[in-house]
Amino acid sequence: MISFDSRRKIFNLSNEEYSYYLHVNKLGYLIHLYSGERLDDITLERVNERYIERYAYFDGQKEVCDESYYFSGQGSLFECGANLTSDLRGAYAIIEHTDKSKLTDFRYYSHEIINGKVNPEGLPHFKIHSNSEAETLIITLKDVKEEIYLNLYYTIFKKKAALVRFSKLFNRTDKSIFLERLASIQFDFVNKNYELISIHGQWGNDKELEVTPIGHSKIVVNDNHGGRGFRQNPAIIIKEKDANYDFGEVYMFALVYSGNFKFEVGLDEYDQGRLIALINDENFRYEVKAKETFVTPECVLIYSSKGINKATQTIHDFTRENLLPEKFALKERPILINSWEPFMFDFDTEKIKKLILDAKELGIEQVVLDDGWFGKRNADNSSLGDWEINKNKINLKEVIDFSHKNGIKFGIWVEPEMISPDSEIFKKHPEYALCDSTKNPTLLRHQMVMDLTNDEVINYVFEQLKNLFDNYNIDYCKWDFNRYFSEIYSSFLGREKEGEIFHRFVLGSYKLLDMFTKRYPNVLLETCASGAGRFDLGMLFYSPQIWGSDETNPYSRVMIQFATNVFYPLSTIGAHVSASNSLSMQDKIIISAFGTYGFELDPAKVSDEEKKQIIEFNKLVKQFHHIVTLGDYYVLSSPYKTNFASWMCVTKDKKEALVFNFNFKREQTKGRFIRLKGLNPDKYYFNSLTNDVYKGDFYMKVGINISAPLKEGMTMLFVIKEVNTIAKTVLNHKANQVKREKLL
Ligand code: DGJ
Repeated sequence: MISFDSRRKIFNLSNEEYSYYLHVNKLGYLIHLYSGERLDDITLERVNERYIERYAYFDGQKEVCDESYYFSGQGSLFECGANLTSDLRGAYAIIEHTDKSKLTDFRYYSHEIINGKVNPEGLPHFKIHSNSEAETLIITLKDVKEEIYLNLYYTIFKKKAALVRFSKLFNRTDKSIFLERLASIQFDFVNKNYELISIHGQWGNDKELEVTPIGHSKIVVNDNHGGRGFRQNPAIIIKEKDANYDFGEVYMFALVYSGNFKFEVGLDEYDQGRLIALINDENFRYEVKAKETFVTPECVLIYSSKGINKATQTIHDFTRENLLPEKFALKERPILINSWEPFMFDFDTEKIKKLILDAKELGIEQVVLDDGWFGKRNADNSSLGDWEINKNKINLKEVIDFSHKNGIKFGIWVEPEMISPDSEIFKKHPEYALCDSTKNPTLLRHQMVMDLTNDEVINYVFEQLKNLFDNYNIDYCKWDFNRYFSEIYSSFLGREKEGEIFHRFVLGSYKLLDMFTKRYPNVLLETCASGAGRFDLGMLFYSPQIWGSDETNPYSRVMIQFATNVFYPLSTIGAHVSASNSLSMQDKIIISAFGTYGFELDPAKVSDEEKKQIIEFNKLVKQFHHIVTLGDYYVLSSPYKTNFASWMCVTKDKKEALVFNFNFKREQTKGRFIRLKGLNPDKYYFNSLTNDVYKGDFYMKVGINISAPLKEGMTMLFVIKEVNTIAKTVLNHKANQVKREKLL
């Protein structure tokens, strides 16, 4: 998969689908040659020379380029752009050197090709199951002036069009240096009229897709909130302008990181593009002491020559198979009910026991006790950090035993990274809060952030968690994170290190999550940040599911899930049926069935008719959820372009599929077919919408006729199943049979 042509100094990283070529030029710069569909060989002429201009590069007084070789720092495609040299399109690294100079210029020093993969220490990462699954190229670069080395890691996987990148800096000088920027990946490209797809959002509207043409103004996709940041998500796509869900060239990039991040992308004066992904360099200045190292988060690059759906399928597979905690990754999750929306802080032992019995009756498998069970917390203004059970409110042991006796799993909510000023721990240790008390700090949701840059604080929090999880038989944990950072100061790190707080906090959170998941490997962890304010691959390394949004209104939910699905497997997206009355129970269930399915309502307030529906659908969801959990996801119709959000999931063996269609506005009869994807064209399939049997080819070319009046918010779910029978007739669409009763 990885080879090196030592004569031409070309590295070739190729698997069956994808090739990536780079070259060490005469000056030791790493030149990017090619990224795209598998290419068996490359010539340097016409690829490298294309960038040659009448520019020369000087090393001190001496011009190092010979007559025939002019090197353009501006015109070349690099793997590692320098700072304050002739390439001014955005640096890979900016280091304040021991002599205070920030000129940062790395050149080739050595390389190594190994079987398997190297992981960034202390950070979440993609995993391999055996060394034969991947190969890694490690290129060591050296700073032109000082004993500072930079390793670039490129891991290519045998069976996936995926390249995992990260960097590691080694300070081999005898003084501290200060890192002001270090990328995880740089991706220079020849412009093909590309555009960028990113995700932005806010609380209650967690994710929306946004498309921006990539032009000569630099686009920055970033977040600087310290973790709980809805504003933008650390996953983007760059694609050919005409590429769509099924056609065209698509590159997807996602950082395995849960803190401040940044993607920069734009074209230079020669219409060449540069994309850089990094820990956000805003307020970032990190001391790397003599002989120490600094490692960046991983960034995965996914390539598809067949549109967005293929890239989505690859990142879904890759996340499920190589990132999520193995114990849960490929398993269906229990149907849960959460106490938050029905009860908020107003519950007691009897109410939760009743919820358990109601859940049992409805075929729900897990009850989650959300916020409010500890300290004196009856509102959101106290007790975070005092993780002692409020015995006046709840007898936790009794409730858990009761739950287990009834065959229902039991889960609990925590928010370990936060501290309330109104708490016992804050009174004792105000320095545990990451807070500049001299600056009139903003209390968001009446709380502050724990100083997880300090091991003493991490250990305190972990002891509190142990006290709970060692002594109570808890099956599931919802790990919340409800504010962003402001006026931060760490009395542990001091003023000097303010530029390190954001990143060190993330490392602290990861350490705590690591300690927790290692001690409690059987506890199903669901992370959350006021909904999906921290939904990224970093969190998914520890928690196989993340709460998808506090917005449970089904109309908004469809949009949020549609955007989240592009990058994250459906099995990772917490999706619950709420008491919202904007759609019927059945419609709400259908939408939630395309995530980690559950409920946020009080069953006591649900009508008998709705209860029947819940019971019936819970059985169906159990029957078909493996298709959602493990199948290939296809967008059929985008709500950004049509009145419909339609998607489907198909099992890997193409024998079963689950199709979803939602129309936003009411529509009168129009000629309209749902054309399916991903089926075997030669096999016959039954569909539960019209109860017909057609050939896969027919479903994919003609589709199922739904030319009937469609009510606003009408939700369809139907199953496609391979059968051995011949189609009755391929022309009999039974258009008018699109009735609600016929859905499933
Ligand atoms: C925010 C979460 O998104 C909610 O689901 C709930 O757990 C509350 N926090 C509890 O405070």
